[in-house]
Amino acid sequence: MAADIILRTEHLTRRFGKFTALNDVSVDFERGRLTSIIGPNGAGKSTFFNVLSGSFAPSSGRVLFDGVETSRLRQHAFSHIGVAKSFQITNVFPSFSVLENVRVALQARVARLNFWRRRDTLDLEPRARDLLQLVGLGQHAARPARELAHGQQRALEIAIALATDPKLLLMDEPTAGMSPEETRTMMDLIVRLAAQRTVVLVEHKMKMVMGISDRIVVLHHGELLAAGTPADIRANDEVRRVYLGRH
Ligand SMILES: Nc1ncnc2c1ncn2[C@@H]1O[C@H](COP(=O)(O)OP(=O)(O)O)[C@@H](O)[C@H]1O
Ligand SMILES: [Mg+2]
Repeated sequence: MAADIILRTEHLTRRFGKFTALNDVSVDFERGRLTSIIGPNGAGKSTFFNVLSGSFAPSSGRVLFDGVETSRLRQHAFSHIGVAKSFQITNVFPSFSVLENVRVALQARVARLNFWRRRDTLDLEPRARDLLQLVGLGQHAARPARELAHGQQRALEIAIALATDPKLLLMDEPTAGMSPEETRTMMDLIVRLAAQRTVVLVEHKMKMVMGISDRIVVLHHGELLAAGTPADIRANDEVRRVYLGRH
């Protein structure tokens, strides 16, 4: 596999009973880039995301991460190999402080890496605070997570995902249910994250990702309709037809 391809799918197919939600999708994701997977509702984006992130096994085909097949790995192995995802459903300890949530996530990683050392000798707080600063929650470190607004909870989830220092960060509709202001804040954060690592973003609102993505992958009826730069995708007649009258 070429060094600049971090993630590759080969003839990836996922069926639910007789229904084919993802059909023979072969696509490459470049290292260090922000790639957005777009398509109308029902296109198969979340199915694709769930197969990429190991939540669903493919019915056929395979996923290669850094040249290694991941499509048969168990879910918990993904953070070990450097893949993290932020969920559509929030995944924080509500009664813990914002800082504690990130510290616990860091602790889990350190415990894995240095299991022979005394964990309590490691001060993870500065790193936790850095991550909170990065996601824009620096001022909210001491608050219980349950008090955060929706957009802030999503930012916290990202900080938790970053605690594993992933090579690849996967996000499925990170702005779902957000106000326009929260959405802008989240998009700014995604741009900052994408400057530091490979990001794959699933989003059904095409307009939102065109300006920030290096590459766009378009799904329609579970199939790969197009892949290319935002300019390629904008100029693609089939894509325009699919999105006509939509966001
Ligand atoms: N667990 C499931 N069981 C049966 N059908 C599913 C399941 N998950 C998704 N589907 C179907 O697969 C298609 C694609 O869904 P999904 O991947 O969620 O699309 P998107 O995220 O692009 O809106 C839809 O028709 C959906 O109803
Ligand atoms: Mg979806």
